[in-house]
Amino acid sequence: MKNSLVLILLSVWSIWCHFTLAAVIGVDYGQQFIKAMVVSPRAPMELIFTPEAKRKEISGLAIKSLGDSKGEIERIYGSALGSMSTRFPKNTLLHVKPLLGKTINDTEEITAYLQEHPGIDIVPNRRNSLSFVVGDRQYPVEELTAMTLQEIINRANLLLREKDPSGGDLVDKLALTVPEYFDQYQRRALLDSGSLTTDALDTYLVPDGLSVMINFVLKKRDFQGKSYYVVYDMGGGSTKASLFSIEQPDNETEPLRIEFGGYGYDSQLGGSNFTLQVANLIENKFLSKHKDITAEKLHRNPKAVAKVVQAAEKAKLVLSVNSEASITIESILEDIDYKTKITKQEFEDSLNNGPFEIVEPIKAALNGQLWDEKIGPKQVSGVILTGGSSRVPIVQYKLAEYMDENKILKSVNADEASVDGATIRGIKLFEAFRTKPLNVTERSIFDYAINLNQQNDDVVVFPKGTVFPTKKTLEIGDAKNLPHDFDIELHENGLPFQTVNTKTSGTDDIFSPEKCPNGVTYNATFSISQNRLFTLDKIEAICLKVGSSSIEKPQNGTDKKTNLGSSKRSIRLTTSGKNSNIKTMSLDEQLKLREHIRILDQKDAARFQLEEAKNLLEALLYDARSYLELEEVMEKAPQTYFGKLSEAVSKHLSWLEDEAEKATRWDVIQRSTEVQQLRDKLEAYLQSLSEPLDSKQFQGILNNANELLAQIDLTETNQQAQIDSLRDKFKELGHNVEEQYAKIKLPHHIATPLDNWNESVSAFKEVVKLVEYATGSASKKMDREKLFEIKSAFDIASTELESIIDYFDKARDYRLHELYSLLQKAEKTKKRKEERLKKKMENKEKESKSSSAISSDSTVAESETSTAHTITTTSPSATTPSQSRQGMSSSTITTPIHDEL
Ligand SMILES: *[C@@H]1O[C@H](CO)[C@@H](O)[C@H](O)[C@H]1NC(C)=O
Ligand SMILES: *[C@@H]1O[C@H](CO)[C@@H](O)[C@H](O)[C@H]1NC(C)=O
Ligand SMILES: *[C@@H]1O[C@H](CO)[C@@H](O)[C@H](O)[C@H]1NC(C)=O
Ligand SMILES: *[C@@H]1O[C@H](CO)[C@@H](O)[C@H](O)[C@H]1NC(C)=O
Ligand SMILES: *[C@@H]1O[C@H](CO)[C@@H](O)[C@H](O)[C@H]1NC(C)=O
Ligand SMILES: *[C@@H]1O[C@H](CO)[C@@H](O)[C@H](O)[C@H]1NC(C)=O
Ligand SMILES: *[C@@H]1O[C@H](CO)[C@@H](O)[C@H](O)[C@H]1NC(C)=O
Repeated sequence: MKNSLVLILLSVWSIWCHFTLAAVIGVDYGQQFIKAMVVSPRAPMELIFTPEAKRKEISGLAIKSLGDSKGEIERIYGSALGSMSTRFPKNTLLHVKPLLGKTINDTEEITAYLQEHPGIDIVPNRRNSLSFVVGDRQYPVEELTAMTLQEIINRANLLLREKDPSGGDLVDKLALTVPEYFDQYQRRALLDSGSLTTDALDTYLVPDGLSVMINFVLKKRDFQGKSYYVVYDMGGGSTKASLFSIEQPDNETEPLRIEFGGYGYDSQLGGSNFTLQVANLIENKFLSKHKDITAEKLHRNPKAVAKVVQAAEKAKLVLSVNSEASITIESILEDIDYKTKITKQEFEDSLNNGPFEIVEPIKAALNGQLWDEKIGPKQVSGVILTGGSSRVPIVQYKLAEYMDENKILKSVNADEASVDGATIRGIKLFEAFRTKPLNVTERSIFDYAINLNQQNDDVVVFPKGTVFPTKKTLEIGDAKNLPHDFDIELHENGLPFQTVNTKTSGTDDIFSPEKCPNGVTYNATFSISQNRLFTLDKIEAICLKVGSSSIEKPQNGTDKKTNLGSSKRSIRLTTSGKNSNIKTMSLDEQLKLREHIRILDQKDAARFQLEEAKNLLEALLYDARSYLELEEVMEKAPQTYFGKLSEAVSKHLSWLEDEAEKATRWDVIQRSTEVQQLRDKLEAYLQSLSEPLDSKQFQGILNNANELLAQIDLTETNQQAQIDSLRDKFKELGHNVEEQYAKIKLPHHIATPLDNWNESVSAFKEVVKLVEYATGSASKKMDREKLFEIKSAFDIASTELESIIDYFDKARDYRLHELYSLLQKAEKTKKRKEERLKKKMENKEKESKSSSAISSDSTVAESETSTAHTITTTSPSATTPSQSRQGMSSSTITTPIHDEL
């Protein structure tokens, strides 16, 4: 499936490339795990791997104090979290998704969370959402989710940079999976999390069932007529069943239709229940063996509980494929190590006896269908299993009991179907570029209603099953029956979540009884957005009156069209919304939290680089130490080099151990450089053992040196000769070649190395003196190390000089190229002047004869072609630098002199 999709993507790649340098990230944000894919012009659907090369990441992070006086913290992601959660349960903030959009009054969710994550300190914040207390700071749950997302986005950006180091692609759009049952607060919390990422990403929420369905449809592809499927998704903390119809219209050119038509869920049933079930089994076995320990005592110890839960999590996975799991928990309580076994039979018996309604969500999806059809279980072609916990064998038996065994489709890649589908849906919604067209219909699973001024019955604006996104305008009431300021309460699924206060004062004068004899009414426009947010978009007061167009000067055009007989005028009213429990995150809070995350990201990155530098130094040191232990090195290395390197190795090793805690990265790098240089020198010395290092060899070196010096002279002479060859041409045009030459400004990358020209030449000349000395009889008295030093000094000085000569050549080419373009330009200008003069004369002549004139455009064109021709013939073609130096077009060169010429 991946391949076919990639093809679709590639076929439109080039179109997209021209429009944007951006990328869409699709994130399957689960309670337990987070998975992501990124799509950019250069990265078609890349899964984002964790630094440990895993396909999914643990959902959450740990926040650890660095123990310094400034209260700095460090954040930890990934597999290191496992050991953090048992050692520092208070700092390890995992699986926070069920607490998004919840308040301190949602005791069920909080209790469940704390049961699995003992020791965590959860408090309400000023907005009434939940914050986690770590150290002396409170982290709103939206911020924690944003940090988890940000970590994944950073990895995606790193991947994009690897794909194309020169490209500027960065993730700027986020498609985030959302459980269909998430309410307004939970959805807003997810969207707020997206907007807290450093780049304040545009975010679309994609229902998780739909994501899996899209993935399934694109993979299966051959659909005929209409069929029905259920996506059964059992995750860590919830179980959902989504009913869809798939229809290939008779007209084959129309896109495949995917329509959502039923939903059932249990937000309290999932893998966590199974984990706790295993944990209970372990706990019971432990307590029955250690009769002196009470359950209360065990539960009072968060570390012990965390250890049991962690062992249970592992055992549960083992029991999915094996008939028994052994469990070992070290120092569960007061140095008691505990070992036991759980069999699959014990596990399944406990589930069978428990209140687990595994099939209930599918039944609910079929019983409360959102469309007009009524589908029975027999008409369902397949149940697509997804979510990690759908692998638990008892889940599959139970479903097979209800549906046909062969309708249970396990082939979907349970781990990646959702992220894959969400990414594709995101591409479509952002219109980032084209994919295979799919006609997707989403329907709301809840009623959306309003209550006016808390006195009337609820009015359903969008009934359950409404296809969205959509908008609707309703006449909500009559001014006679409503006070000046009234409230509209917005309800979702029967529960109020926002009160919009409406002010009508101010309309009195304009809509007086004389002006509106038929009264005033209020119309309100509501919408359900793509993210299924229910909002009141605007409310207007409308004056109803018998036709008389005298007062309605301002808007005569539009009103006449819509009103026959009576005419009206409308005024938009001011409103202010207030959420019932969780308040909207203010822009100010958003900015502050985003900045906080950005700074932490920077600090984490700096710490990471420092750690890397330390690791590199450590590796260098260990490597050098083993090198010094080689027999050949111990035997042949001269004491000075050997001593220096081994001294440095032990000095830096003990520094790393005892003092490196507060080191800067620069300090670490300098130490690495020192060790590397000492090691290089020793290696070079040992290599030179095969050389005689006698006066004959030094004579050879001296000859090389002289050649290099000669080359410098030649380089300088050549340059002068070339300048000379252009002297006459410049003179012809009235310019001085030396002057122009001196004015040329070299680009930075050439000019900078050349600053060292004089120094390098004189350093080289100094070294050559030493070489000369070594060719004489004095060399016989020098020891080998001294001679080696001279030779290495020469090697270093000559390498340096050669590279500078290279830059010197580049500089010369650059300047000559400039001179040629100046010349060209000057000639062109001169030619044009001449032509213009000629034309002027001719025109004057013609004007006196006839009225036809040559357009000035063609004059320029003509003069340009002829100038270009002149240049090719005048340049010494074989040596023209402008020809040898590709990639430097004359249009890129602008120097002030051009204007003068
Ligand atoms: C499953 O676990 C959740 C949260 O831990 C709990 O609220 C719920 O009651 C459990 N369900 C059953 C059937 O035990
Ligand atoms: C929680 O419930 C209490 C008591 O009913 C109420 O006073 C308080 O406002 C509620 N808090 C939130 C955030 O809903
Ligand atoms: C099929 O659909 C396409 C595009 O929607 C339309 O142009 C075409 O006329 C349709 N063909 C038939 C036979 O209806
Ligand atoms: C999408 O499907 C609906 C019916 O589900 C149909 O009315 C509509 O025309 C389709 N749209 C396109 C673009 O094919
Ligand atoms: C006001 O609402 C009614 C009922 O929905 C509608 O018919 C009418 O066109 C609306 N008027 C305006 C000006 O939108
Ligand atoms: C009102 O209508 C008249 C006649 O149709 C037209 O000339 C005039 O420009 C209109 N005024 C406005 C403000 O649209
Ligand atoms: C190098 O020395 C020469 C003469 O001593 C001087 O003219 C030139 O500016 C120096 N170049 C640099 C880059 O210092």
